[in-house]
Parts: sequence; structure tokens; C-alpha cells
Amino acid sequence: MTETGSARVGFGMRPGGAAAAAEEEAAVVETLPPDASIDLAEERAESHVDEVLDALDRELVGLVPVKTRIREIAALLLVDRMRARFGIDSGRPNLHMCFTGSPGTGKTTVAVRLAELLHRLGYVRRGHLVSVTRDDLVGQYVGHTAPKTKEVLKRAMGGVLFIDEAYYLYRAENERDYGQEAIEILLQVMENQRDDLVVVLAGYKDRMDSFFSSNPGMSSRIAHHIDFPDYAADELEAIGTMMMEREGYKLDPAAEPVFRDYVERRRAQPRFANARSVRNAIERARLRHANRLLDAGGAVDLAALTTLAADDFLGSRVFGPRP
Ligand SMILES: Nc1ncnc2c1ncn2[C@@H]1O[C@H](COP(=O)(O)OP(=O)(O)O)[C@@H](O)[C@H]1O
Ligand SMILES: [Mg+2]
Repeated sequence: MTETGSARVGFGMRPGGAAAAAEEEAAVVETLPPDASIDLAEERAESHVDEVLDALDRELVGLVPVKTRIREIAALLLVDRMRARFGIDSGRPNLHMCFTGSPGTGKTTVAVRLAELLHRLGYVRRGHLVSVTRDDLVGQYVGHTAPKTKEVLKRAMGGVLFIDEAYYLYRAENERDYGQEAIEILLQVMENQRDDLVVVLAGYKDRMDSFFSSNPGMSSRIAHHIDFPDYAADELEAIGTMMMEREGYKLDPAAEPVFRDYVERRRAQPRFANARSVRNAIERARLRHANRLLDAGGAVDLAALTTLAADDFLGSRVFGPRP
């Protein structure tokens, strides 16, 4: 189980003791008269939501439909907040989601940003992400599952619970599988405590579809289904370039076609994991680069320290055994 993101002070957490709490309470309940108006730009700036949305646009290549959906959700929550200032209580929208896609398509990364966004819009208190799999929720013995699942839920409260490969919770072949117990607890909490927790189920599209058809209760609690398509070759290249830039590397011009060729070949191989495979390739190129520099000895300048050469990629197994 991993936890990302920092706990921040949000709605519902009141620093500064009872006086401050009372003051904040007063500020919250003061309803605007019907003829008032709210400066939308100001409201938007105050929430700092654009910083998260812009970072999402800037730092993630492609994923246009995903980014659009996240923007729409942000708009809905922003408008809900303004409506609430006039005393309109539309209830919290259901924001439980399902992210489908192959490994390395950005599901976890987007979930982290989503948690931050929901926090800035006051939907959740903390804005952290707790990422789990079946093993974190389901016990091996009778009586172990409920406490495990409840412990995870407790840790995730105020943030986003990300359940990777969620369909492993359900085993069609075994009616008495403990996974069923975890599903039932999740269903209850998703219904009753959705004011402080967003659940994101993630995994392959086809398996998720059959999970939902066997678990209609789960399906009906998911408000947003977002699909993360596999990246095209040029997107993988752009992702690689971005990763290298961020780490203070650039490609030697002669290495550019080699890197492109690498991506093409790696895509066609087993266990290809989209952007994650690109990240791993760059990590290994960095290793070869470092070894190459040490083997060469002598003087190194900034260019040598920051430039990945064709050979740093050609050493990979995707190019076959080297003479
Ligand atoms: N569109 C993208 N642009 C840049 N980097 C990406 C993109 N999608 C994924 N990555 C990077 O690839 C790696 C794997 O992504 P991740 O979110 O863990 O995928 P998933 O959860 O779908 O398996 C991470 O390092 C992530 O930052
Ligand atoms: Mg992931």
C-alpha cells in the first residue's frame, strides 16, 4: 500500500481552536441574497484549481479526453460551491470513478492529481491518495478481511482510495471468497461516506467490464468511467523526451532515430507497459551512459554529462544480441 500527497488543512479541519472554528462556521453559513453575484474569476483563482489543471495539461502528454473530463468535474464542483453560497444544497455529486487502461497509461498519475484537485475544491479534507490492491484489503483467514478493509478505508478517508486491478476482489469460481466481504464493506462506505472519500477502481477495460456485470451494485456506484488509451508511438517519444528533460538529459541528435526505433520495437514486445516502459528504458540508458563515461576516463564536460548517445540505447536487448 502506498500513500502519496501531503495532508493539508482543508474544509472540516479547523486549526486555531474553538474561537476560530466558530468564526469559520459563521463565515460558511452566511448565505448570499438572491440579487448578489459572485466574481467567477476570483472564485476560481481563490481555489487554485487552475494550477492543478494546467500542470495536468503541461506535464502529461496526450490524454485529451481524460483531461477534458477532469476539467468538467472541476467546473461542476466550482459551480456547486458558488451555488452553495446562495444556500442551494444540491448534495454532493457522486465522484467514484473507474479508470480503465493498460499498465503505464497514466492512471495512477492522474488519480494523484485528481486527489489534489478535489482537495482544492473542498470536496475532500486531505487530498492524499492511498493506492491498494486485493492483498491490502482481503485477508487469508476467516475474520481477517473486515479489519483489513476497514483499516485501509480509515487511512484513505479525506482523500482518494485507488484500487488497482479491482476485479481481483471478485472470484467468480469461489462463492465463499473473502473478496466478497471486502466488496460489501466498500459498497457501504461508497454509498454512505462519499462526502469524505472518493474511490477509484482501476484496471484493464475488459476485465473491469466483466467485474461490473457480476457486481451491479459496484457498477451503479461509479459515476465516471474514464478510459486511458494506449499511447501512440509519437506520444511515447514525447513522453520520453519530457522525462529526459526533467532529469537533466538530452538526446544526442544521432540518438533520436535510435530512440524512436527503440520505442517501436519495445511496443511490439511482451509486457510492454506504455509510459512505464519508456521510463525504464531511460533509466537503463542512464546506467549505460554512466558506465560509458567512467570507462572512457579523462575529462568530462557538461555536454558529456547530460547527453545520452545512440549507444546508450543500442545496448538494449530489443536490438538483439550485440556482436
Ligand atoms: N501522458 C503522460 N505523460 C508523461 N508521463 C506519463 C504519462 N502517462 C504516464 N506517465 C508516466 O509513466 C509512468 C507510469 O504511469 P502510471 O500513472 O503509474 O500508469 P498506470 O497507473 O496506468 O499503470 C509514471 O512515471 C508517469 O509519470
Ligand atoms: Mg498504476
